Amino acid sequence: MASVTFDKATRVYPGSTKPAVDGLDIEIEDGEFLVLVGPSGCGKSTSLRMLAGLEDVNGGAIRIGDRDVTHLPPKDRDIAMVFQNYALYPHMSVADNMGFALKIAGVNKAEIRQKVEEAAKILDLTEYLDRKPKALSGGQRQRVAMGRAIVREPQVFLMDEPLSNLDAKLRVSTRTQIASLQRRLGITTVYVTHDQVEAMTMGDRVAVLKDGLLQQVDSPRNMYDRPANLFVAGFIGSPAMNLVEVPITDGGVKFGNSVVPVNREALKAASDKGDTTVTVGVRPEHFDIVELGGGEAAKSLTKDSSDAPAGLAVSVNVVEELGADGFVYGTAQVNGESKDLVVRVNGRQIPEKGAQLHVVPRPGETHVFSTSTGERLTD
Ligand SMILES: Nc1ncnc2c1ncn2[C@@H]1O[C@H](COP(=O)(O)OP(=O)(O)OP(=O)(O)O)[C@@H](O)[C@H]1O
Ligand SMILES: [Mg+2]
Repeated sequence: MASVTFDKATRVYPGSTKPAVDGLDIEIEDGEFLVLVGPSGCGKSTSLRMLAGLEDVNGGAIRIGDRDVTHLPPKDRDIAMVFQNYALYPHMSVADNMGFALKIAGVNKAEIRQKVEEAAKILDLTEYLDRKPKALSGGQRQRVAMGRAIVREPQVFLMDEPLSNLDAKLRVSTRTQIASLQRRLGITTVYVTHDQVEAMTMGDRVAVLKDGLLQQVDSPRNMYDRPANLFVAGFIGSPAMNLVEVPITDGGVKFGNSVVPVNREALKAASDKGDTTVTVGVRPEHFDIVELGGGEAAKSLTKDSSDAPAGLAVSVNVVEELGADGFVYGTAQVNGESKDLVVRVNGRQIPEKGAQLHVVPRPGETHVFSTSTGERLTD
């Protein structure tokens, strides 16, 4: 087992001037499960392939434990990779597929058999060892691909979207299996996905990439509570965080007919940049509906002098009922412009389409970002 270090690792593909991965800096602890996540083309696979030795590193370094592996061939890195398409050999049995790398490495038959049987037991594949891959379900094939990596007892597992061929239900159960298996084996793992739910549920830490640049690397909890910039704020969380540009007023920001209190230093940082607005982020689950006459949340806000109810009036366009809760997709007038908002509501109190809600952000659950740079301003 070992730590993994990306030390300003950079990849510029031939014929391109812009790096696909630009100065990537991450230190992954021994035994940690790190998830690389980001939209298509952001450089996730390139980062993983640099670590695997399948892609040249044009700047910076990559280390596994104390070893500088930057220019080492893949076979000398002591890693095992699980790909999206599993790449199983169709003419070989499950057992032969799982033991193939050991056979190539010259390990004797008895030892291969023992390791394959051990891995099959962990993965619940014992009864399928003599089958060919085509006689397996998608989930079973996926586990064979995992098994092939496990038998090699590598220092590091690398996985590139290993669940993307599975249907939605199987993805959910398999992601739990992989996460618990990784914890049991304690092997340092770098896992690539474009699915932020997978990232949040599986990773000890999550690294968000955009355009080849690392945006934030943090625990799932911190990603959710304190996104470092507008991009991460919009990317992590489902439905996405509402982001609204609002004017700065004394002691806070004006949100509909209410002033939401915001840390003075944050506002000062914004006005020092010459900004007159900030971008406020509120997750759909962090709006409180204001009862006419004023709910708890409304009392904590300074209402302006008008007689309109506190908060922001949202007209309901579409309601998604999910049973336990529901999502209201609506429109609000913010600074004279209409703005689409998503609000989570109680599953037993779903408003009608066309109705109007008044919402206020729950105190302590607002995020404030610089409109000009996108950087987070609140702690
Ligand atoms: N072999 C290559 N030659 C040139 N450019 C490449 C090559 N492979 C990838 N790229 C470019 O590098 C960038 C990063 O690609 P990469 O495959 O790392 O993205 P990704 O984050 O894995 O995306 P996806 O989620 O679609 O798999 C993209 O702009 C891509 O077009
Ligand atoms: Mg990819």
